Amino acid sequence: MEFFTTMLCLFASLLSILVLNSLIKIFSSKRRDLPLPPGTMGWPYIGETFQLYSQDPNVFFASKIKRFGSIFKSHILGCPCVMISSPEAAKFVLNKAQLFKPTFPASKERMLGKQAIFFHQGEYHANLRRLVLRTFMPEAIRSFVPAIESIALDCLNSWEGQSITTFLEMKNFTFNVALLSIFGKDEILYREDLKRCYYILERGYNSMPINLPGTLFHKAMKARKELSQILAQIMSTRRQMKQDHNDLLGSFMSEKAGLTDEQIADNVIGVIFAARDTTASVLTWIVKYLGENPSVLQAVTEEQESILKSKAEEGLIWEDTKKMPLTSRVIQETLRVASILSFTFREAVQDVEYEGYLIPKGWKVLPLFRNIHHSPDNFKEPEKFDPSRFEVAPKPNTFMPFGNGTHACPGNELAKLEILVLLHHLTTKYRWCMEGAQNGIQYGPFALPLNGLPIRLYPKK
Ligand code: HEM
Repeated sequence: MEFFTTMLCLFASLLSILVLNSLIKIFSSKRRDLPLPPGTMGWPYIGETFQLYSQDPNVFFASKIKRFGSIFKSHILGCPCVMISSPEAAKFVLNKAQLFKPTFPASKERMLGKQAIFFHQGEYHANLRRLVLRTFMPEAIRSFVPAIESIALDCLNSWEGQSITTFLEMKNFTFNVALLSIFGKDEILYREDLKRCYYILERGYNSMPINLPGTLFHKAMKARKELSQILAQIMSTRRQMKQDHNDLLGSFMSEKAGLTDEQIADNVIGVIFAARDTTASVLTWIVKYLGENPSVLQAVTEEQESILKSKAEEGLIWEDTKKMPLTSRVIQETLRVASILSFTFREAVQDVEYEGYLIPKGWKVLPLFRNIHHSPDNFKEPEKFDPSRFEVAPKPNTFMPFGNGTHACPGNELAKLEILVLLHHLTTKYRWCMEGAQNGIQYGPFALPLNGLPIRLYPKK
């Protein structure tokens, strides 16, 4: 009897597996029958890469949207892809982690470190995200204000009376703030060594991935190794000192984090990478937009001066940064107009149906942030720089400068804080004029004013 029952159970399980399998087959073949989104794929292998990179990429995207609508296919950098420019579709792709995974070229993974947060999904990613968010949430970063202010003042002092390339100098500022958030007050001890290696690494980041002596890529890989060694040394010193640290490295090194030294190094380098050029690009655009909009500059200066006047003691505190609504709207509007991250990449992990179209497994999917931010459906007169539009909250999912969903930026509060602190001192103590050609955008890879915005900075009075 027992034998028959076992056989019956086995038969039933087999049957259900077969039924399930054929259902999946019917389902996926049904999906395969769906049409691909409209669009053109260009030449074999090269696809439309040349069209994309030989012009302003946003002109390329805008012309496609005009022709094919908000979801279209293309072929770039050797990959078939689907580009999406509706807020709902972007939200769908960025929130369905089980359908779309992050994707980067292998050379970039090697350079930053394969175990860095951006490249992962699931439990490992969630653990890292918890540790990063813990260090960068408002309650944690409020204590950084005096140290950020001191970094900002040092930078501004060194620019006084000089002709500077705004982007390069802002990179110096944001690099030092990133190190502060990672190493706390110890950052000053390692600043020069880390800077030297990181600058070589960054020069190789966008070079051809040819690992032969003499190439930028080779030098970058060597610098990457040296960075790991410096970080190993810092971790070993911390372990010997047996002190608690409330910075990112402390969070990564805590016993509960359960990370290896290699995983920590990859993520420290990853956070510097994510934090520096992004924030520096936004600051560069703010300097440009304020320079071009004297009435906005005047209003921001008045807001900052009123904070200065209301204080009995010198030095900003966290609460002061909460009294800067107008300056905060300037940051929001700059994030929208400049959209320094025009788009991001995901890859479909299985065939996905979206709005009656097939997104085939393995295809790249690009949510086009900039086109969402520049659509007249979402923002009236989108090309106009008008911070007052943020007096009213934007429509849901139409404003995503920090991404959305599983991989949304965990450093956004820190980025806004350091921008506010620098702007406080810039507008109350200095004036500036732009030098050289003032129009034009360069992409490298973030959208930037031409030549990094050369300016001359003067002390007020
Ligand atoms: C204004 C400056 C910044 C902008 C515009 C920005 C934008 C973004 C965006 C759009 C993403 C999501 C990318 C995607 O989904 O593919 C992202 C992710 C990330 N950002 Fe930022 N970011 C900024 C500053 C920072 C800062 C200051 C930090 C750290 C202190 C930081 C750390 C990160 C990290 C670690 C991720 C990866 C998160 C994950 O994969 O779970 N970012 N950022």
